[in-house]
Amino acid sequence: MNVLILGSGGREHAFAWKIKQSNLLNKLFIAPGNAGTAQLGVNLNLNPTNFEALKEAVINHNIKLVVVGPEDPLVRGIHDFFKHTKELENTIVIGPQKYAAQLEGSKEFAKEFMYRHKIPTAAYQSFTKNNLEAGYSFLESLNPPYVLKADGLAAGKGVLIIEDLEEAKYELKEMLTKQKFGAASAKVVIEEFLDGIELSCFVLTDGDSYIKLPNAKDYKRIGEGDTGLNTGGMGAVSPVPFVDKAFLDKVENKVIKPTIEGLKKDKIPYKGFIFFGLIKVGNQPKVIEYNCRMGDPETEVVIPRIETDFLELLIATGNSELSKKTIKFKEESACTVMLVSGGYPEAYDKGKQIFGLPEVTSSIPFHAGTITQNNQLLTNGGRVIAITSYGRNFKEALQKSYQNITKISFDGMNYRKDIGFDL
Ligand code: AMP
Ligand code: GLY
Repeated sequence: MNVLILGSGGREHAFAWKIKQSNLLNKLFIAPGNAGTAQLGVNLNLNPTNFEALKEAVINHNIKLVVVGPEDPLVRGIHDFFKHTKELENTIVIGPQKYAAQLEGSKEFAKEFMYRHKIPTAAYQSFTKNNLEAGYSFLESLNPPYVLKADGLAAGKGVLIIEDLEEAKYELKEMLTKQKFGAASAKVVIEEFLDGIELSCFVLTDGDSYIKLPNAKDYKRIGEGDTGLNTGGMGAVSPVPFVDKAFLDKVENKVIKPTIEGLKKDKIPYKGFIFFGLIKVGNQPKVIEYNCRMGDPETEVVIPRIETDFLELLIATGNSELSKKTIKFKEESACTVMLVSGGYPEAYDKGKQIFGLPEVTSSIPFHAGTITQNNQLLTNGGRVIAITSYGRNFKEALQKSYQNITKISFDGMNYRKDIGFDL
C-alpha cells in the first residue's frame, strides 16, 4: 500500500520511521516533510491544507492511506473533502471529520461534550462580547488563578492563567472586544483552575472500538523548571512514572470509554487519534483538553514504544476492524529532548548548518525543522530535532539523549537540560 503522511514535524518523522518498518508498505510519501522524512520516503512539496493539490498527488501516486499529522487540515475538513470527492472516497484518512475535530477546534464544543457525557473536567462558562458583564461576575465568583481560554485554535497560545482578578477582567475584555487572539477569541471559555500534575493519554479509534497507545508527559515551557513562554513542546517521557494501574484504570473507565461511547451516542463518526490532555488532581483524572491528533513531541516517545505493525493498525482503523487487533508495547522507557533554534518560541533565524548528527549512536534523531540544501543539513524551524532514546527507566533514557546531544551543534542551539526534573 502507498501511504501519505501530512505534516513536517518530529511527529511526522516518527510516523514515517515506524510505517517504513511495515511489510504492508509499498511507497511512502510525506507532504511537505523535512530532511529526516526525505531519508525514508518521497517528500512532496505540498501544503497539507491545499486539498486540491493533495487530491492530485493522491491520484497520481495511487495513495491508499493518508495519516494527518497536524490539527489544521482536520479542523478545515480534509477528511470530509476526501469522503465527498469521488476519486478519493476509498482512500483511508486517519483523522476525524470536521465536526468531530471541533473536540480540538472549539473549547466550548469540547466542554459541552464532556458535560453531556459526564466526563470529569473543570467547571466552566463561556462568554462573548455580548455578555462581558456576566463574564466579570463569573470571574468574581471563582478563586484565583483564573483560566481564560480562546474558544478556537490559537496556535497553542490561546490560554491565559492569571493571578489577579482585575487583570483577568482586563484580558477577558481584550480577548472578546479587541480580538486578542483574532477570531479564535470571539468566544472565551473561563474555567475553574485545577491544581495537579499533567499527563497525556492517547487512543487510536475507528469510532467503535479503540486501542490504547503508550502514555506520555511533555514539557511545554521554554525555560528550565517549567518557566518562560509556552512552546510546542521541549521534551517528553513515556511511560509516565507517577501513575499506577489503578489510576490508569480510572482514566480508561471515567474518560476514555465515556468519550468513545459519547461519540457513538452523539452519532459522531471518528477514525483517528484522540489525545487526552489530563491532569491528576489528588488521585482523580480530569480532562484539560482533547486534541484530534497525536502530540508533538509526545509521538517521538509513544511511537518508538510500539512493537506492533503500526500500518496494520491504521488500515484496521480505516476498515472499522480495530476490535480484531491488539497492540504490544516495549517495556523500556523512551524519552526525547528537543533541540531548538536560539530565540524560539519568539523570533529565530533559519538556515544554520547542523553538525554532528552522523556521530549520534544509540539515540534516534527525529527531525522537525530541518532541510537539506547543497548536501548540507540546515535548520528550518523553531523546533529542529528531537533526540529520542530508550532506557530501562526514564533517567537512563534521558542520560543517553543528553550524551548524544553533546555531539550535535548549530549556531544558537538551545534545549532544556532538565527534562524529567519533576518526576
Ligand atoms: P490547553 O490549551 O487547554 O491544553 O491549556 C494549555 C495549558 O494550560 C495546559 O496544558 C495546562 O497547563 C493549563 N491549563 C489549562 N486549563 C487549566 C485548568 N483548568 N487548570 C489549570 N491549568 C490549566
Ligand atoms: N505537545 C503538545 C501538543 O502536541 O499539543
